[in-house]
Amino acid sequence: MNTVILSHPLASEVLTALRERATPGPAFRARLRALGALLLIEATRDLPLTSRRIETPLVPMDAPELARPLPALVSVLRAGDGLLAGMLDMLPDAPVGQIGLWRDHTTLRPVEYLVKLPRDIGRRRVFLADPMLATAGTAVAAVTRVKEAGATEISMLCALAAPEGINVLNRAHPDVSLFIGALDERLDEHGYIVPGLGDAGDRLFGTTAE
Ligand code: PRP
Ligand code: URA
Repeated sequence: MNTVILSHPLASEVLTALRERATPGPAFRARLRALGALLLIEATRDLPLTSRRIETPLVPMDAPELARPLPALVSVLRAGDGLLAGMLDMLPDAPVGQIGLWRDHTTLRPVEYLVKLPRDIGRRRVFLADPMLATAGTAVAAVTRVKEAGATEISMLCALAAPEGINVLNRAHPDVSLFIGALDERLDEHGYIVPGLGDAGDRLFGTTAE
């Protein structure tokens, strides 16, 4: 599996804010959005371009644009929506899919509650967003759903990954490209990434139990 770790001072700054316990919800949301944009920029370096005749206020010109069809962006709910916001900042015309999965706290296995994908997803590059690659149960299930819908060129975008999760995703879907903000040390006994950032969905949506 091709794995890329972001290497950019702005990504480091954003990740540190995301990790810090004291970062309030609105700032956490803004940073996750920024990271979504940074990850998508890195993951789309090789997208093909074509050109289109346009008129500037001064002259006509042949201007570059992304070859069609545009990629599809797919968010793994809930926390994927935090990255998706920044990905849509970069690619506002892209069709969007959602896969709803939550991780059972006892078994750590993903439980699916929604799959809604663009009908023609098989014709498009797919960029799948989920901030946390922990045991990778969720990522493996999400990639499987996208493949079942016909997609063949899939990239997974994550803020943080544990080595265990990368190994599991690689074994299940070696053809997927993985883009991550940082590679962390390990999982704890509850399946949380260490040092990590805590529960991404709860921090994003302010649902943390106090
Ligand atoms: C979190 C996270 C991933 C998943 C990762 O979601 O956003 O989807 O856990 O864990 P895994 O790699 O061990 O499967 P969570 O289940 O907390 O759902 P939420 O986003 O709805 O809060
Ligand atoms: N899900 C999260 O939100 N955080 C982790 O560290 C692991 C799974």
